[in-house]
Amino acid sequence: MKKKKAIHDFYRMKEDKKKVTWLTSYDYPTAQFAEAADLDMILVGDSLGMCVYGYKSTVPVTMDQCIVHCEAVRRGAPNTFVIGDMPFMSYQASDQDAVFNAGRFLKEADVDAVKLEGGTRVVSRIRAIVDAGIVVVGHIGLTPQSSGALGGHKAQGRTAEAAALVVEDALAVEAAGAHMLLVEAVPPEVCAHIAATLTIPVYSIGAGANCDGQLLIVSDLIGQFQAFTPKFVKKYCDVAGIITDAMRAYCSDVRSGAFPEDQHCYHMLDGEHEKFTALMQAKNSQTQP
Ligand code: KIV
Repeated sequence: MKKKKAIHDFYRMKEDKKKVTWLTSYDYPTAQFAEAADLDMILVGDSLGMCVYGYKSTVPVTMDQCIVHCEAVRRGAPNTFVIGDMPFMSYQASDQDAVFNAGRFLKEADVDAVKLEGGTRVVSRIRAIVDAGIVVVGHIGLTPQSSGALGGHKAQGRTAEAAALVVEDALAVEAAGAHMLLVEAVPPEVCAHIAATLTIPVYSIGAGANCDGQLLIVSDLIGQFQAFTPKFVKKYCDVAGIITDAMRAYCSDVRSGAFPEDQHCYHMLDGEHEKFTALMQAKNSQTQP
């Protein structure tokens, strides 16, 4: 049976220069696949708003939706480190909200850690959640919940001044007590500098290879999410194509009568068909005038 990793394993992996493998999952079957594929960590991202519910952004996602999806993922991947993603307005208003909602993830969905977006502006939230004894993953660079303020889903830190601000965010997140850091859509040299500077593990989504591990959104990796594909995604299969082709083949079989075949039917038990015919005939003759 797979042995579930804990936070000290991720620190050791950083020291040993072993890369952490990390994907999002939102449901029970995908979590089972992730566990079977020996992923180190799963993020139940608020990207579920776009990938599962078809929202235009992650902003409408609620705590209750996140909890339900975390529960399903935990059932599918009992031996994988699962991180619950704190949705928009579950931590922005106050430290109290942040601690209360982070606690819900642990109490109701049995996750191992929570992730929240932001650098210097969320240090008191991170500190408050860590003080409650909860493992925290920071998230800086492109932070989708504030993509409106950032001018869209755009790469961050591409000028020297902007890169220095991303580094400032990284230092603030570590100083606030976060246990790991995710850096999204910044130049690889900036993420490499952060990974070399921080003692906590630093992971990339669209921030290059020179850090402690990689995250991708599973719906991008398997070719399921079709609205757009960020530059940093590598598609490993075309699930949308496979599923659509299967559905087309089914429609064609039903229309032509090729499905169902005999092998797809439950037949009556031996001798029961004759009895059934006789019974129906008897009932028909009783009802006829
Ligand atoms: O919700 C999510 O999947 C995320 C990733 C974009 C990092 O936060």
